[in-house]
Amino acid sequence: MAKINIKIEGIPFEVESGLTILEAAKACGFEIPSLCAFNHGECSKGSCRVCLVEATGARGLVASCVYPVAEGMEITISSPKATAARRTSVELLLSNHNKNCQQCDKNGMCVLLHVSKVTGARDDMYQGEQTPVTVDRLTPSIARDTSKCVLCGRCVERCKNAHGLGILGFEKRGFNTIVAPAENRSFANSPCILCGQCVSVCPTGALMEISEIEKVDAAMKAGKYVVVQTAPAVCAALGEEFGMKIGTRVTGKMVAALKRLGFKKVFDTNFAADLTIMEEATELLDRIQNGGKLPMITSCSPGWVNYAEYNYGDLLPHLSSCKSPHEMFGAILKSYYCEKNGIDPKDMFVVSIMPCTAKKYEKDRPELSVNGLQDVDAVLTTRELGKLIKRSGINFVKLPDAEFDNDVVGDYTGAGVIFGTTGGVMEAALRTAAFKLTGEELQSPALQEVRGFAGIKEATFNLGGKTLKVAVAHGMKNAKVLLDDIRAGKSEYQFIEIMGCPGGCIAGGGQPFVKPCFLPNEDADILDTYKAKRAAALYCEDELKTLRASHKNPQIAELYNTYLGEPNSHKAHKLLHTTYQAKEKFGK
Ligand code: SF4
Ligand code: SF4
Ligand code: SF4
Ligand code: FES
Repeated sequence: MAKINIKIEGIPFEVESGLTILEAAKACGFEIPSLCAFNHGECSKGSCRVCLVEATGARGLVASCVYPVAEGMEITISSPKATAARRTSVELLLSNHNKNCQQCDKNGMCVLLHVSKVTGARDDMYQGEQTPVTVDRLTPSIARDTSKCVLCGRCVERCKNAHGLGILGFEKRGFNTIVAPAENRSFANSPCILCGQCVSVCPTGALMEISEIEKVDAAMKAGKYVVVQTAPAVCAALGEEFGMKIGTRVTGKMVAALKRLGFKKVFDTNFAADLTIMEEATELLDRIQNGGKLPMITSCSPGWVNYAEYNYGDLLPHLSSCKSPHEMFGAILKSYYCEKNGIDPKDMFVVSIMPCTAKKYEKDRPELSVNGLQDVDAVLTTRELGKLIKRSGINFVKLPDAEFDNDVVGDYTGAGVIFGTTGGVMEAALRTAAFKLTGEELQSPALQEVRGFAGIKEATFNLGGKTLKVAVAHGMKNAKVLLDDIRAGKSEYQFIEIMGCPGGCIAGGGQPFVKPCFLPNEDADILDTYKAKRAAALYCEDELKTLRASHKNPQIAELYNTYLGEPNSHKAHKLLHTTYQAKEKFGK
């Protein structure tokens, strides 16, 4: 990229051409307040006017998030005119805003509150009419509160860019404009897949997950046997809630914190990821050998399952019948584990800590209950766990490491760990499928062909004389390409991995917010690479494990030997498999 010379606040800098003023200023160490500008490579709308600056060659003040730098440009951030204009922009936003920050779930990570502070805006400067308010809390996953919306449009763009869905859009006109699903419906009455990607980019409390912290508190107070499991992507990101660098693996501290919070047992969902692979690899080979529906598609991402049910009802037989790992774990805890430990399953309360808001919906699906009991009773996001730890006064950063429980269940292999990133389920499944087909372990368990963040990855493997053609997609926009090919009878694959969120669970809708204004300086340059940093934390743990293939997990072998029989047995089907149903897009 060509370089150009500019001045910011009178200081000369050489910067890349093609940057916006906001980007160039950030690269040179200046913070210009911004609200509607995106931080994930998505375009700015220039709608909030919070980032106004003076620039030579421009007439009047310019929105720095959309205005490009030019050779010889002199940019002034601190002039009285620019400073006052930015403050006024924020004060106008606050004039039509529900300012109950004390009760707001976004407090602590609210960009509106942050820009209020840095611009010195007063929240009572302008009083006026308030736009009529809609509060939508009808799904178990995400809530929308228009009284906190600043109409920045980030959520609208994110839903379109990640999934090509466009669930959210601008509704009504003028002063009454709101951001909502079509006709201001509830998310529950739209084909929203509840992935939470819109929540991750919302700068305010207008979009948030539905918290289940109180439900967990109540179960503990009621004397239930409350156990917790954590997904692999959680330990790759939880540290960010406590100011630690992106990509810091905090498994030991997280376990120690959960034990202090009073959970009777702390398990790693990775155990059940190994179990999923045993079931899924067996199902795949059975379909290949006995003429079953191919390509088989993974089913562990509930956002993707929601998308399939709304949009590709005719392709549902392609989905593996395996439940997702945390559901499998819940089912095993409330059967095998309770039997082994003399616990009444009705007394057990299973909490899953997940990077995902769609898992809150998934756990309530009636088809996932066994003997009238839900596999999982509550799902907390990584962010909610961060809140729970903060409010208890635990000093997370200083906590000494602790180990997961692994009595009877809980041991895991490296294959389970990599489930958290795009391509991970495929890689884990191939390690075990290769062994089942050839009787030998893969020489190198790291399958680079399915790693990385390309929207669609494809690879061909020769396993025991059989050619296996596979594909991996993440984000529904990419998945749609593969699904349309299957529908048109053009797909050449035997096995496809699909994850709802772009990047997989490491960038799930329940993960810590990645917002430049809250990042330590040294992290600011890795905004574009935060997914790779989190994924690297998982691949690193995989490499450190002695056992890296699910079929080598001794506790899984014991579970089959003494309880389930064999993968895909009748008992395994009753506990570990499910069904899917096509849904009407605007059914309720
Ligand atoms: S969105 Fe931000 S400013 Fe608005 S109530 Fe919540 S914390 Fe306060
Ligand atoms: S939860 Fe996902 S599908 Fe639903 S509106 Fe948000 S980004 Fe779109
Ligand atoms: S809901 Fe959030 S992201 Fe969407 S327009 Fe409103 S403030 Fe912006
Ligand atoms: S951040 Fe530039 S106009 Fe909103």
